[in-house]
Amino acid sequence: MNTTFLDACLGKPTPYTPVWLMRQAGRYLPEYRATRATAGSFMGLATNKDYATEVTLQPLDRYPLDAAILFSDILTVPDAMGLGLTFAEGEGPRFASVVRDEAAVDKLAVPDMNKLRYVFDAVSSIRKALALRGDKAVPLIGFSGSPWTLACYMVEGKGSDDYRLVKTLMYQRPDLMHRILAINADSVAQYLNAQIDAGAQAVMVFDSWGGVLADGAFQTFSLAYTKRVLAQLKRTGTDGAVVPRLVFTKGGGLWLDEMKDLDCDVLGLDWTMNLGKARAILEAGAGSNKSLQGNIDPNILFANPDQINTEVARVLNSFGKPHADAAKRGTGHVFNLGHGISQFTPPEHVSALVDAVHAHSKAMRG
Ligand code: CP3
Repeated sequence: MNTTFLDACLGKPTPYTPVWLMRQAGRYLPEYRATRATAGSFMGLATNKDYATEVTLQPLDRYPLDAAILFSDILTVPDAMGLGLTFAEGEGPRFASVVRDEAAVDKLAVPDMNKLRYVFDAVSSIRKALALRGDKAVPLIGFSGSPWTLACYMVEGKGSDDYRLVKTLMYQRPDLMHRILAINADSVAQYLNAQIDAGAQAVMVFDSWGGVLADGAFQTFSLAYTKRVLAQLKRTGTDGAVVPRLVFTKGGGLWLDEMKDLDCDVLGLDWTMNLGKARAILEAGAGSNKSLQGNIDPNILFANPDQINTEVARVLNSFGKPHADAAKRGTGHVFNLGHGISQFTPPEHVSALVDAVHAHSKAMRG
């Protein structure tokens, strides 16, 4: 197996900087659009383990990526709570029921994990398919939304520009918001542990909307519940291997000084943060026990390959000299975008990015 991703997560030296891309399986790939058309809908893809396996592997067949990510969605958890998820073509996710008052909160509970069996079956199926690749097999990342990010969709009922409804509930009825978040945290922990048992080799928490919160509210309504998830997670898989835990808060660079004490292995950053400065924050004081993931602007993929190359080098150089001492844990770097890839991305530009990460990061070690 290619272990560069897992090694970088755990702060071990690697021969080059591993790279994968948030939303690497998706609509920018014509082969994804074809499989989706056959499956009929996004949920048709996600709930069928053969389709989920096929689309997970599609980006790996095109690019020498260093990790696979389970094909699913963060909104499967509130769906299993009974909120009724649908993805209308071109509209994004929608819930049939929303959680905006005490009566709706009273009905919420940690879902029976059997309702999410299709996700765990997909994890096992993807692991089997990856194992057939022998030396070229890459680790499989499982994931979930953060308690706060899930609450955003459960209250708003869909994506939002201003988070007005979820913030109304948070400010007017913090007691109800805390009840939702506690249920979400315990659901997410059970969900990630079941993914680990099914074969996920790393797990990532997407706190996509943590960064919309005010200072103070972020710590109370997002970070505290991410901690509650992390405290419940299994540390090793059924094979005994350590399962790295990654946390990505979009817009979270501001709070790095607090996030560096989270009980996880990797912090993901968006493009607003300088990786060298972030690394210095982690390495201050007692020294770093974490790695960083990120953080190139996904829109760089609309530039020309030579410009992509220049920007990749700039991001790798901003992180600085890679950790090389096998005797101690260092700050590893997993290259990624600062957020998900755009559906309008030209697929051949992704090749340029992945190749540039491998070539430049090898040269930095040479
Ligand atoms: O390749 C991968 O990264 C794995 C699959 C994955 C999807 N969603 C598939 C998907 C992952 C990791 C996610 C996470 C996810 N889903 C997040 C957190 C990451 C982030 O981007 O912040 C969020 C906020 C969601 C919620 C969600 N799902 C939205 C807002 C949308 C619609 C908008 C959009 O970008 O399409 C989805 C749908 C979705 N999830 C698609 C895919 C490939 C597109 C659906 C389609 O095929 O029509």
